[in-house]
Amino acid sequence: MTAVTDGLADELRLLAADIAQEAGALALRRRAEGVALAATKSSLADIVTEADREVEALIRSRLAAERAGDGFLGEESGAEQGASGLTWVVDPIDGTVNYAAGFPAYAVSIAVVQGEPDPDVWDDVAGAVFAPVLGELFTAARGGGAWRGGDRLRVSEAPPAGALLATGFGYDPSTHDGDLAAVRRVMPLARDLRRIGAASLDLAYVAAGRLDGYFERGLKPWDFAAGRMLVREAGGVVERAGSASDARRMIVAGSADLVRDIIVRAMGDP
Ligand code: IPD
Ligand code: CA
Repeated sequence: MTAVTDGLADELRLLAADIAQEAGALALRRRAEGVALAATKSSLADIVTEADREVEALIRSRLAAERAGDGFLGEESGAEQGASGLTWVVDPIDGTVNYAAGFPAYAVSIAVVQGEPDPDVWDDVAGAVFAPVLGELFTAARGGGAWRGGDRLRVSEAPPAGALLATGFGYDPSTHDGDLAAVRRVMPLARDLRRIGAASLDLAYVAAGRLDGYFERGLKPWDFAAGRMLVREAGGVVERAGSASDARRMIVAGSADLVRDIIVRAMGDP
């Protein structure tokens, strides 16, 4: 089991940032050449492009070369246990629907965590979220704060005029009623609501204080592994509301007070 010193956590932050930028540049090049849809996954709306797979393969091979012994958990190519106790949790393109449609809000999300590769129990080590079209790089290392480039990030205190919130919806149409009911219950807290289309960026924007809060049901570990770390290292709170047996538990991020208020409303009776 690798002992993770502050120095190692920062080294891994820089590695995640470097790989995320190389991967983002590849995604950008492939986008310019045109998007080829490779398949649909859980539902017709849940698409994967050739680029998602190619970008994940690039990330995986760089990690295999530089961090042999670490485990891997990726959206497109599955899981592999490592020997070091560290696991890389990767979404090669978060916001694939935006990517395919030509919206700029997509990102490469890379996190490294310690312990069981289960988001309820693992310890954050380091992470990076890179949005190649927007040219923004967000990074964090355990105990070292969260950063956009060289600027340290801090979550906002929700303003009295109401919170600027973001949310998202699952791909399965049968989940939409429940998601919309939660939005309706949370809306009285909001000054306005965004649906950006990339969970890693929603969380990065909460860390940066651009959004006051974010909530979404049914995210997968790779959607939020790096972003959750950014919010926590920026002084915020990220909770998974609902019972552990619920595959569509809700992620809620923001200041401690706002997260509590969102959970009370979102989980209430319809
Ligand atoms: C999706 C995005 C989206 C969120 C979905 C995610 P993907 O990830 O983060 O914003 O609403 O729940 O699945 O499929 O583009 O990697
Ligand atoms: Ca993805």
